[in-house]
Amino acid sequence: MKFWNNPELQQFLSRPRIASRDEEVEWIKNTWERRRKGEAFIFGIFLHEKDQYIGNVELRIDNKIAQRGGLGISIFNPNYWNKGYGTEAVKLLLNFSFSSLNLRSIELEVFAFNERAQACYRKVGFTEIGRKRQAHFLKGKFHDIVLMDILATEFTEALEKKGE
Ligand SMILES: CC(C)(COP(=O)(O)OP(=O)(O)OC[C@H]1O[C@@H](n2cnc3c(N)ncnc32)[C@H](O)[C@@H]1OP(=O)(O)O)[C@@H](O)C(=O)NCCC(=O)NCCS
Repeated sequence: MKFWNNPELQQFLSRPRIASRDEEVEWIKNTWERRRKGEAFIFGIFLHEKDQYIGNVELRIDNKIAQRGGLGISIFNPNYWNKGYGTEAVKLLLNFSFSSLNLRSIELEVFAFNERAQACYRKVGFTEIGRKRQAHFLKGKFHDIVLMDILATEFTEALEKKGE
């Protein structure tokens, strides 16, 4: 709650959501319901050394027949950005998506001005597949929404190349 309602974080979220504590508790309960129904898997991101909860990473099952999922992530406290935690969390989620859930592709949307997030996604193998031009409005300006995706085969090939 300490960092969630910070505009510095909210500006990057596709569904910005200023929330009260009660609403957040409801949201967390709802994650279990979505998981039970097999609609989404939402994980906390924790720092092992401090056992500290610093963010969420989410996998939505968008289409079971096409084995297609969608990814979302946020690390709440800006002091923890740029330390590699996002990359590690995205990699783990992709591994879970492809190795355990047998998904074939994962896609995401990211605002064009969110260069940090795009760099993080590129590092794990996502590529840009298109743009929704001027589809987002923030602080008096229109911005593109970048669409990215990754196939299971691309992810495993990249890991094999790195010997991971
Ligand atoms: C996006 C987010 C999950 C990334 O996680 P992170 O831990 O900060 O990212 P990482 O440290 O793993 O990687 C970030 C990379 O971006 C690079 N980067 C940072 N700012 C950049 C910029 N302005 N332009 C280009 N690259 C940039 C970093 O140098 C790093 O690359 P490197 O490891 O090769 O040096 C995290 O910053 C976050 O939660 N941000 C706020 C919410 C958000 O944007 N969510 C995503 C919505 S689509």
